[in-house]
Amino acid sequence: MADANPASVSFRGVTKRFGETVVLDGIDLDVHAGEVLAVLGPSGGGKSTILRLINGLEVRDGGTLSVLGRDVPLGPPAARPEDPWWRPLRQEIGFVFQAFHLYPHRTALENITLAPVAVRGVAPEAARAEGLALLERVGLSAKADARPRELSGGQQQRVAIARALAMDPRILLFDEQTSALDPEMSAEVIDVLRDLAARHDRTMIVVTHEFGFAREAADRVAFLEHGRILEVGAAAQVLDAPRHERARAFFERVL
Ligand SMILES: Nc1ncnc2c1ncn2[C@@H]1O[C@H](COP(=O)(O)OP(=O)(O)OP(=O)(O)O)[C@@H](O)[C@H]1O
Ligand SMILES: [Mg+2]
Repeated sequence: MADANPASVSFRGVTKRFGETVVLDGIDLDVHAGEVLAVLGPSGGGKSTILRLINGLEVRDGGTLSVLGRDVPLGPPAARPEDPWWRPLRQEIGFVFQAFHLYPHRTALENITLAPVAVRGVAPEAARAEGLALLERVGLSAKADARPRELSGGQQQRVAIARALAMDPRILLFDEQTSALDPEMSAEVIDVLRDLAARHDRTMIVVTHEFGFAREAADRVAFLEHGRILEVGAAAQVLDAPRHERARAFFERVL
């Protein structure tokens, strides 16, 4: 059956273990094209693991996962992102990690233009123009020629966002680590994410600790604890009137 708004990412009964530890315990989740989903929950709950499965950096142990309409196979190929099966898919997925490894010896602009030129075959001059436009969008026009060590943590993270956007991904995964940033830097990064979210031109899954961002910018919020999605729904409902007792306790503690 044709679906006018197909799921961009679809988890069904997905499980993941590390050794004896069950990290994801039956995840069911559909994220629709153009939707902004915020994922919240306590540390160790499995938030990053969910993103890493979507990007093929981890392999699930059970259940089914489809990304942009393609069923992700179980087993070793998904563990190797450079595998031919993953290559075209990964070009559609931008991932801004908790540890956003920029190339240390390249300028901010070069960090952004490298992949479009090398992977997408974009002409260097076109990539440069696009890179400068992206730097402007993340508020870093003045930093095109700066190397990562000359940038603050929040600035580096914004370069990492611009780098992900340079590939024009259909899915953008963002793994926020608030603790690494001071509040001001974090606000700059959140502003960039908020601007992206408002466009609704790509699917965004944002692991965040920023309730303000989740409430204002996300369409839906998922609360994840101990490898289970205990609650998922409209942002205002989940944040302001959570049905699950654990979600309520978590939000009360953090807010
Ligand atoms: N490569 C790994 N090997 C073993 N255990 C792992 C590995 N990666 C994650 N884990 C474990 O899986 C669980 C979920 O980790 P994950 O990083 O997904 O949590 P999280 O919700 O992102 O936490 P945080 O908010 O602290 O980033 C944790 O208990 C973690 O220790
Ligand atoms: Mg994490």
